[in-house]
Amino acid sequence: MRTLTKLFLASISVAFIAVKWSAPSFQPESLRGARVLVTGASTGIGEQMAYHYARFGAQIVITARREKVLQQVADKCLSLGAQKALYIAADMSSESDPETVVDFALQKLGGLDYLVLNHIGPSPFSMWKGDIEHSRWLMQVNFFSYVQMAWKALPSLEQNKGSLVIVSSLLAKMAGPFTAPYSSTKFALNGFFGSLQHELAMNNSNVSLSICTLGLIDTDTAMEKIRGIIDIPAAPASEAALRIIQTGATRQEELYYPWNTYLATLTKDWIPSATNYIVRNAYNYIP
Ligand SMILES: NC(=O)c1ccc[n+]([C@@H]2O[C@H](COP(=O)([O-])OP(=O)(O)OC[C@H]3O[C@@H](n4cnc5c(N)ncnc54)[C@H](OP(=O)(O)O)[C@@H]3O)[C@@H](O)[C@H]2O)c1
Repeated sequence: MRTLTKLFLASISVAFIAVKWSAPSFQPESLRGARVLVTGASTGIGEQMAYHYARFGAQIVITARREKVLQQVADKCLSLGAQKALYIAADMSSESDPETVVDFALQKLGGLDYLVLNHIGPSPFSMWKGDIEHSRWLMQVNFFSYVQMAWKALPSLEQNKGSLVIVSSLLAKMAGPFTAPYSSTKFALNGFFGSLQHELAMNNSNVSLSICTLGLIDTDTAMEKIRGIIDIPAAPASEAALRIIQTGATRQEELYYPWNTYLATLTKDWIPSATNYIVRNAYNYIP
């Protein structure tokens, strides 16, 4: 058994190194002047992505609901070196705002090279108590708005050999407790955009589509939610943001960050009962 475990870990390490080795290298200068729209950019990973794109000299449009915070982020982007930093306040739970935001970016930047879909609506971290309205609402914010924005931006991305980047989660690959509405929106994203990835490739499209699978990241929202319930290490938001940007810029289909996120998806498939046991016991919960 011990030899088998060692063999298992060794083969995963070799596969991981091989994938890293063969990945195209990131050229920061490729982002100079790139026209980028980042959603959910008032805070967390989206805010960090805005700052990285700014340092690379991109032209950015950022969006979220809070206008004042967006203004501060846009000002900082300009001071970091963004060629342009514009913002538009929008609520992705509205049926019309997602398309309005893409129209704004297309008009102000004259086209799009990157569409980075990252926003999520607030959702409780607790046992499912039957709130179907919340699930419906969250589906519009976390899923349907992504589909609307992608569809609206695709012609411009196609014209400009652009990239569509979807920020997803380990909870799109393996469900965990306390996240039923959130997890279902992320599974929906992976299903939809996984299918679109095939269709773009089969049509020899110019557009690359990257699906980014993130584990726990140390954003304020995430840390606040899990406090006192789970105690596992979180990866830094700034590094997560950079890895997402690099994945889009190098036109890779997938990102797993941090690396052990990939290991978790494998163990869930290969040893599901042990994985379920570990997941359930990681929570500080007394019924
Ligand atoms: N942090 C983690 O541990 C983790 C793990 C796995 C995956 N991810 C993924 O990473 C992405 C970013 O996560 P995060 O932790 O950085 O999130 P966050 O800090 O909670 O930021 C969410 C962003 O979405 C915006 N937003 C919220 N509701 C909105 C609405 N109705 N319409 C428009 N914008 C809205 C928020 O700004 P306003 O409040 O101003 O609207 C904010 O800019 C998400 O896709 C998440 O699923 C995160």
